[in-house]
Amino acid sequence: MTSRVVQYRRFGGPEVLEVTEREDPEPGEGQVRLRVRAAAVNPLDWKLRSGAMARGDAPAEPKVPGFDVAGVVDAVGDGVVDLAVGDEVVGKATGGAYGETALAAAKALTRKPAEVSWEVAASVPTGATTAARALALLGLGEGDHTGTTLVVDGASGGVGVYAVQFAVARGVTVIGTASETHQDDVRALGATPVVYGEGVADRIREVAPQGVDRAFDTSGKGALRDLVALTGSPDKAVTIADYAGAQELGVTFTSGGDADTERAVLADALARVADGRLRTPAVVTYPLDQAGKAQDDNQYGRVSGKLVLLP
Ligand SMILES: NC(=O)c1ccc[n+]([C@@H]2O[C@H](COP(=O)([O-])OP(=O)(O)OC[C@H]3O[C@@H](n4cnc5c(N)ncnc54)[C@H](OP(=O)(O)O)[C@@H]3O)[C@@H](O)[C@H]2O)c1
Repeated sequence: MTSRVVQYRRFGGPEVLEVTEREDPEPGEGQVRLRVRAAAVNPLDWKLRSGAMARGDAPAEPKVPGFDVAGVVDAVGDGVVDLAVGDEVVGKATGGAYGETALAAAKALTRKPAEVSWEVAASVPTGATTAARALALLGLGEGDHTGTTLVVDGASGGVGVYAVQFAVARGVTVIGTASETHQDDVRALGATPVVYGEGVADRIREVAPQGVDRAFDTSGKGALRDLVALTGSPDKAVTIADYAGAQELGVTFTSGGDADTERAVLADALARVADGRLRTPAVVTYPLDQAGKAQDDNQYGRVSGKLVLLP
């Protein structure tokens, strides 16, 4: 069987993405093949496509973008015991998610609750798992952290919305930065909103006379020095998006987590989404052949929310 997939053979702008027909990939040891129902667009997808994170003009072989995926298992590789053909699952793909089919390690998938739509399910993995990992690094993992004040820079984004909600649920007082447009959204998540940009540190001090204990830079837009100044120590801040700033200031940069932990976090987040305890960003859907537009809309902040491809 063949199926459609988005791929790029050279690095560059959205124009390097092409929709092509390929032979369905066979799942290897520990993998399953999914019939993809929804695949989310994340900033990492267009960063990798641009070549900014690689050497040379082209990847060694054609690349299919995307990680976050929701779909139906349609083939099972050797050694997979906990998933079967027909299972509806969510998680992270291996070798790309922007297609009608995708491969994934079984241990990178969890079951999709029936109450959660395909597009919402696909929108959750990276945001929820990254937020949980960063909070744990900040000493704000599961448990009661009443009395702690946290700043989330980029509180309206794909990672920020989960960081705010996880922290609020643990008793943390959260101050979240966002554009003017998203101040009410951040407030609705349980945080005190503050507009980002020039003067943000003063605005944060105004709403946090008690001081700031921890800071999470999800945006990577240059606020890290201010965040360190607000908390008083680089040990009390974490970034997922400012690698150079982290090196310079001695702040922890985190990327990628342990598969078992991520699967547990994702399953828990989906259960909370299913019963309404956890809000997800608004989802905007695109057909597969609009993958380049979806990536551009995300990169340039033209469309708010989580952008999801429906093959
Ligand atoms: N290291 C990792 O493991 C990891 C994992 C996931 C993501 N990331 C990275 O983290 C970043 C955010 O990812 P995401 O999925 O949350 O992106 P996203 O959904 O596109 O959200 C971006 C957020 O940044 C905010 N923002 C824009 N300009 C800002 C500024 N000058 N100051 C503060 N905030 C600003 C936006 O707010 P408005 O919409 O209100 O303008 C929005 O909340 C990306 O660079 C991504 O590559 C890293």
